[in-house]
Amino acid sequence: MLANSWPLFELSVRTPRLELRLARDDELPELLDVIDRGIHDPATMPFKNPWTDLPRAERERSSLQWWWRQRASWTPQDWTWCGTVFVEGHPIGSQDLMASNFSTSRQVRTGSWLGREYQGRGFGSEMRAAVLHLAFEGLGARTARSGAFLDNLASIGTSRSLGYRDVGRTTALRRGEQAALVIFELDRAEWRERRRDDIEIVGLERCREFFGLAEPDA
Ligand SMILES: CC(C)(COP(=O)(O)OP(=O)(O)OC[C@H]1O[C@@H](n2cnc3c(N)ncnc32)[C@H](O)[C@@H]1OP(=O)(O)O)[C@@H](O)C(=O)NCCC(=O)NCCS
Repeated sequence: MLANSWPLFELSVRTPRLELRLARDDELPELLDVIDRGIHDPATMPFKNPWTDLPRAERERSSLQWWWRQRASWTPQDWTWCGTVFVEGHPIGSQDLMASNFSTSRQVRTGSWLGREYQGRGFGSEMRAAVLHLAFEGLGARTARSGAFLDNLASIGTSRSLGYRDVGRTTALRRGEQAALVIFELDRAEWRERRRDDIEIVGLERCREFFGLAEPDA
């Protein structure tokens, strides 16, 4: 019923191995459990905002607020689609897609994580391929960007395996110290070379306005 007024709840991207879609509130506790079991070695920090360092109760509240804030603050000019990754109906991680002024920029950014028990099994590449399909095939993006700290070999490996180019370096504060980041970019032609025909997008038509796309072929 909620999807009648908020069709983003019906948008889904499906591959042979997984599905990306917004999680419903009653599914968030299971996603919080995935986070509680661990996303990375505590000795390292893959995120600019070190939210995984927070004590459990605070981290749970801040995670819920993050998901709810992305829904509540959504505008066609500035949006973050929090694609929860489902395998056999259970959440295993998150694959976010973000853009500002997408109707003119046609540029998206991505961010992701998986529960540790699901890492290193190809899900990271599969979920990025799925969200890129949504971005390029579904939304008509021109470029996709992703950044990773230089010591995040799994994230760098994921971007490289999908054909992204290394387009520069920057630094960011990480746990209070400057750390180097690599920026990757993939353009539409590069994506098309690897375009998969086994990824399905469901329920996008009613969401086009949400992404700043008025016309079907805009
Ligand atoms: C980053 C992340 C989503 C990648 O998902 P994943 O399922 O572990 O990655 P995959 O198994 O799909 O591997 C993707 C590629 O990276 C490579 N790779 C994965 N882990 C690696 C590692 N530790 N060292 C080197 N390469 C690695 C794989 O070989 C694969 O490349 P290939 O297709 O050329 O063989 C996941 O590891 C994760 O959640 N990490 C913690 C959170 C995080 O770092 N998020 C990103 C913040 S920028």
